[in-house]
Amino acid sequence: MNTLHRIDGRLHLEDVALDTLAERFGTPLYVYSRQALETAYRAYAEAFAATPHLICYAVKANSSLALLNLFARLGAGFDIVSGGELARVLAAGGDAGKVVFSGVGKSAAEMRAALEAGILCFNVESESELHRLNRIAGEMGRVAPISFRVNPDVDPKTHPYISTGLKQNKFGVPIAQARALYRLAASLPHLKVTGIDCHIGSQLTDLSPLADAADRVLALVDALAEDGITLHHIDLGGGVGIRYRDETPPDLAAYGRVLAQKFAGRRERLLLEPGRSLVGNAGLLLARVEYLKPGEEKNFAIIDAAMNDLMRPALYEAYHDIVAVNAGTTPAQRYDVVGPICETGDFIGFARDLAIGEGDLLAILSAGAYGMSMASNYNSRPRSAEVLVDKNEFHLIRERETQKGMMAQERLPC
Ligand code: LLP
Repeated sequence: MNTLHRIDGRLHLEDVALDTLAERFGTPLYVYSRQALETAYRAYAEAFAATPHLICYAVKANSSLALLNLFARLGAGFDIVSGGELARVLAAGGDAGKVVFSGVGKSAAEMRAALEAGILCFNVESESELHRLNRIAGEMGRVAPISFRVNPDVDPKTHPYISTGLKQNKFGVPIAQARALYRLAASLPHLKVTGIDCHIGSQLTDLSPLADAADRVLALVDALAEDGITLHHIDLGGGVGIRYRDETPPDLAAYGRVLAQKFAGRRERLLLEPGRSLVGNAGLLLARVEYLKPGEEKNFAIIDAAMNDLMRPALYEAYHDIVAVNAGTTPAQRYDVVGPICETGDFIGFARDLAIGEGDLLAILSAGAYGMSMASNYNSRPRSAEVLVDKNEFHLIRERETQKGMMAQERLPC
């Protein structure tokens, strides 16, 4: 995380000391750096400058309105997977005309809302979905712009839970069936074929699966042209990984060069759907040590953040670096860093060497992506507040949930 640094032992994000934010807003607290978000976006814009393109930020990575608004102002489009995400994009000032709608299970209501808003494209994932969309667009007197999400059967070499482009995954239509499906789509009256889409997985650390998938998709686009079906855009999805520990993520500039070569002389616009690589290393989760609990085999640092705040370690055994916010005087000891939730799976990190005492603050790093957006109320814990740091200023962008708020939708049977 580039905008993280120490001044006199105190950890700062940009020019703001993290202990100040913890005092002011309490913990657990998600904190993001505006500069890091903008730098990540600009890195994409520069890497792909040679190819006409649109960056559609994958909202699921972090759907907080302030972040969506920031990306919208930078000119981004959005990749959404639900009516809820569409509503957020619109509320944040995003342009519906730059929205692509992915997902295997779009409901009729979600299709109607997206047609009403006038989105750029539906990424259709099955023949049944195609027929439903055609029917609904017809009922509304509209024409729905569509792509098929094709499943190129490429192994992205990532965690099995976040790999999506293999035959055995539920996503997309098999690339072998795509030509027939495109012919069908072209024959349906309330659809307009505009593009093609693929997304093979997330946290990819190798460029070659992305390049292989691009080759397979481009070959299909050429085959479709022979059938008289011409496309306006080619969406190659997201998936570029980030460094959590010691990974070497794909070099964006190299990815940009590879695609510039493949797109040279083509008429279709390139779309990308990055999520994690735009926000992951722009955010951290601040937590406070409640108790230090020495054990016979292990020492535990019990903190006030838990799996409901950051689910990735419990769900994927994901690694997040954990650092003490203020350099202490106590010698470092090895701890399992765990939350207060009543499950053994409630851990944030194992065997971490930390010089900490009770009451000290910890920063859980690289938590900007799939942190807050996957948070829950498990154990009736309110979801955390969020702060956006901007140089020496900071803005509360989401208040901490209240206990009253958490119960607001519930009713007692009379
Ligand atoms: N487009 C589609 C259709 C997707 O399904 C995804 C992510 C993205 C774009 C963005 O991918 P990214 O650039 O962020 O890799 N919760 C997991 C990650 C799940 C990713 C799901 N799809 C995690 O915490 O690692």
